[in-house]
Parts: sequence; structure tokens; C-alpha cells
Amino acid sequence: AKVTYVEHDGTEHVVDVKSGLSVMEGAVKNNIPGIDADCGGACACATCHVYVDDAWLPKTGTKSAMEESMLDFAEGVTENSRLSCQIKVSDDLDGLRVTMPESQH
Ligand code: FES
Repeated sequence: AKVTYVEHDGTEHVVDVKSGLSVMEGAVKNNIPGIDADCGGACACATCHVYVDDAWLPKTGTKSAMEESMLDFAEGVTENSRLSCQIKVSDDLDGLRVTMPESQH
């Protein structure tokens, strides 16, 4: 699926991410700045925080309780906040757009 990662300053990176990978893994594999993913996807660091574009919120599913509590440690959390390691890419998410928060710049 094509995923657009938008840096805090508006720089866009459009990359193809294989189904089954997480949105975080797609960013790390393509050297996209702004997603540090210190814990490697274990939902234990909150440095993979992204804002999901409104249009895509319903398709990216709901947060687990663990993700919710981890997000408490992230800065600038909004209703669109997700941990990108907890969003799995599939064909349904083709065109997904996420923005990285300023704190991860
Ligand atoms: Fe650590 Fe997502 S990579 S919480």
C-alpha cells in the first residue's frame, strides 16, 4: 500500500509499504525521519507517535488499552494520535496519510 509520511515541516515521503508490516516498520525501512521507534515495535516507547489523517481514522482501527496508556507518555497527543507500530498496513490502507509530531523531529 502507498503510505504518505508527512514530516512536521510539511515534507512528504510517499513510499510503498508491504502488507503485514506496521506503519512504523514502513517508515524505518525507508529511512523516514521523525519515527524513532526506540522499542522496535513493542508498544513500549511512544517514539513512533503519528497523527492519522481524519479520513483514515476509521480504517486504521481502534487503539488497544496498552497503546492508550503508552500514548500518555507522548507529547502533543490529539484525537488523531496513534502509535504507528500498532497500525498494520494492508491493501485497505492504500493511500494512508500520517503526520509526525514536532517532538519527534
Ligand atoms: Fe515503540 Fe511503537 S515503536 S511504541
